[in-house]
Amino acid sequence: MNLVLMGLPGAGKGTQAERIVEKYDIPHISTGDMFRAAIKGQTELGLKAKSYMDKGELVPDEVTIGIVRERLSQDDCKKGFLLDGFPRTVAQADALENILAELDRQLNFVINIDVDKNILMERLTGRRICKECGATYHLVFNPPAKDGVCDRCGGELYQRADDNQETVQTRLEVNMKQAQPLMDFYEEKGYLRHINGQQDIDKVFADIQELLGGLQ
Ligand code: AP5
Repeated sequence: MNLVLMGLPGAGKGTQAERIVEKYDIPHISTGDMFRAAIKGQTELGLKAKSYMDKGELVPDEVTIGIVRERLSQDDCKKGFLLDGFPRTVAQADALENILAELDRQLNFVINIDVDKNILMERLTGRRICKECGATYHLVFNPPAKDGVCDRCGGELYQRADDNQETVQTRLEVNMKQAQPLMDFYEEKGYLRHINGQQDIDKVFADIQELLGGLQ
């Protein structure tokens, strides 16, 4: 199962990715998570990525493509993978085609989670994430049972540095510019499938499972 999960910031990629990788037992490859881990570890990659992420801009293609190439060639990806947040530009999509050809692999589906842009600001500024296990919550749409505490592992919840109003605005503008050309690219290749992301979280996952059912 070789999958790409696409959608504007806040569409629900991370929320659905948690469920998909658990059910289908494939690695979750999130470029955003990889950059955040590099920033936390103060690595060279982290230093490069931070200046872009803080402003809500995209990290340059050559940096992003390099880390994905390396990750996809690791052994655990042989059974399949879920890419989340990559590709995000047509140049990245082209590079992914080349990487997969080198590995003699092919995508099954590119799943785009469709959500009206007007509700994304509220989703992102209300998001909270567990420091320990990375589980995602929302103050209104998906609150934890106890304020500030993860239901799953008891970890402390925090707000991502780029989830403030100003940076979210830039992230949405930057990503909206890239979205249509990327969808056209995958539509032409026949991989693109749309999922309605403006439904209850469990219903969105049920629709994804229905789509993936045929692959098992
Ligand atoms: P990244 O970490 O990938 O962030 P993003 O694309 O901005 O997406 P998010 O993680 O913010 O949103 P999501 O779709 O996962 O939503 P979630 O499920 O959390 O990238 C961060 C930065 O890294 C980029 O800005 C860029 O700088 C850099 N970067 C990463 N990849 C790159 C690349 N390929 N190229 C260049 N640069 C790159 O949900 C959001 C909220 O909504 C949550 O609170 C959740 O609980 C709630 N929610 C989810 N689903 C629903 C629902 N159905 N109904 C109601 N609420 C819901």
